[in-house]
Amino acid sequence: MCGIVGYIGFEDVKEIILQGLEKLEYRGYDSAGIAVLHDNEVYVCKEKGRIADLRQHIDKSVTGNIGIGHTRWATHGTPNQINSHPHQSSSKRFTLVHNGIIENEEELRQKYLSDTEFQSDTDTEVIVQLIEKFVNEGEEVELAIRHTMSRLSGSYALAIIDKQDMNTLYAAKNKTPLLAGKGEGFNMLASDAMAMINHTNLFYEIEDKEFLKITKDDIEIYTIYGNKVNRQPYKADIDASDTEKGPYAHYMMKEIEEQPFVIRKIMSEYSNKCGNMNISTEILQDIRNCDKIYIIACGTSYHAGLVGKQFFEKIAHKPAEVIIASEFIYNMPLITEKPLFMFVTQSGETADCRAVLVKVKEMGYKTLTLTNVKGSTLSREADHTLLLYAGPEIAVASTKAYTAQITVLAILAAMVDNKIGIDVFKELSKIAYIMETLCNDREKYKKLAEEYLLKTRNCFYIGRSMDYFLCLEAALKLKEISYIQTEGFAAGELKHGTIALIEKDTPVIAVITQENINLNTRSNIKEVKARGAKTMVISMRRISQEKDNIVVDDAHELLSPLAAIIPVQYLAYYAALLRGCDIDKPRNLAKSVTVE
Ligand code: AGP
Repeated sequence: MCGIVGYIGFEDVKEIILQGLEKLEYRGYDSAGIAVLHDNEVYVCKEKGRIADLRQHIDKSVTGNIGIGHTRWATHGTPNQINSHPHQSSSKRFTLVHNGIIENEEELRQKYLSDTEFQSDTDTEVIVQLIEKFVNEGEEVELAIRHTMSRLSGSYALAIIDKQDMNTLYAAKNKTPLLAGKGEGFNMLASDAMAMINHTNLFYEIEDKEFLKITKDDIEIYTIYGNKVNRQPYKADIDASDTEKGPYAHYMMKEIEEQPFVIRKIMSEYSNKCGNMNISTEILQDIRNCDKIYIIACGTSYHAGLVGKQFFEKIAHKPAEVIIASEFIYNMPLITEKPLFMFVTQSGETADCRAVLVKVKEMGYKTLTLTNVKGSTLSREADHTLLLYAGPEIAVASTKAYTAQITVLAILAAMVDNKIGIDVFKELSKIAYIMETLCNDREKYKKLAEEYLLKTRNCFYIGRSMDYFLCLEAALKLKEISYIQTEGFAAGELKHGTIALIEKDTPVIAVITQENINLNTRSNIKEVKARGAKTMVISMRRISQEKDNIVVDDAHELLSPLAAIIPVQYLAYYAALLRGCDIDKPRNLAKSVTVE
């Protein structure tokens, strides 16, 4: 959600910034812009639409060694050229890009800026105007920025250039991700490492309410009060090639097909020298000592959490509850005496999850984050972290991170207490193999998508028990990239209202991987068929019937929904492809949701 790139050094910045912004496209945006400082002048170019549109408008003759760029996902003000970033102060001395939301924008306008003529409808412009106001009143630039920070309430990652200073790039952060990258003779800033990985793999984490002064040779970090912070950079283990599409048409396809590899990678990361499962005893002890696990997550990660609850309860006999992060914060359930809060989040930056983390930490509870991003906010701030090892996930629609989350949750539950004696590694290896065979059936999924999903307005996924959780995820996948209105339903619930929506040719896709509900779901299929639905069945081999459309090889019942994720991800992919949708960057969505 919004992206920032900044560079100061020896090369012309335009291409560095544009390429960095392209690496952040996956986060979601609706406009983009760039500012280049050259000969004490600032060149600004910004456009609604894609970075490709911005490129067309950039004056190629402008060159400079210091610059900032931005992709904007509109919150305040419509997505148009004026509201795009960068924004400038009235005299155009200061130019700034911002991620986040300023909550007291109105109050600041009235209190300090009643005489200022604003150019845009954004909350961001308040920040750059405030900095200029304090400088005009006689403050040094650094102090003016820190004073501005202390008056802002809300979230921000800022990159700022001052037209009168060709040697410094300023930055600040609060509750929105920002990293500084250390180079040889240059330094960088970006919302995440991927925008800088082609230039450096050495990064500084920035804490909330910190201020940065960056020159081409140095990165100085200060607290909001001006005290210098001594922090060592860390080396990121991302490979620049992990962020490329390779031979695939879309990142989503690449990421779907990486899933068997991800399962195997996780098994090797969480095994000891003898090949047995291995997770830090401290983490296991904290989980064993708690009386209930509260899993907090959003979207796809929430769906993985629902499966995780089954693992903790069925494998480890440990009570667990799964709560949508944005609901928890306003409607907290009764908390048990010794809870443990488990945050499941691909990005590790989701603002709704972070709000819960801050709250439960204040309450003194133990916390654990499962995330794909080392060094992310939720990873840094929780007591413990377990990494997902899925590699960078670029497509907005989450696929391999979902599989990684479920894989880590299965290993974790079995390590906490394996009451049913399940051989998790053996079963996961089987799933990885089944996934590989399923990936070979692409053409079949494409044909089914053409037959069932090309023209439809809506669609339903139905399933019971573990299959119901898979249906929720399948429905989210289909709706977010193909824009077909899709719902996942507990099959038995249909006749309590939703069946009224079934009409001639409404696609209803049933998932049946669990033996004990096989016949029940099949009778639900008959009910919708009798009302005109066009039904499709995805089943497990041992309970399959002749006319089932997709048959998944047999696996352990607790893990079988994990194998069945492959066909539903492909159905979503091909439906979106056939309907001409932007698969990797669906409309209105952001990969990393960093505002509440
Ligand atoms: C699903 O495809 C989405 N990208 C979305 O639901 C996502 O899972 C959600 O926003 C949570 O993100 P996180 O895992 O990074 O916290």
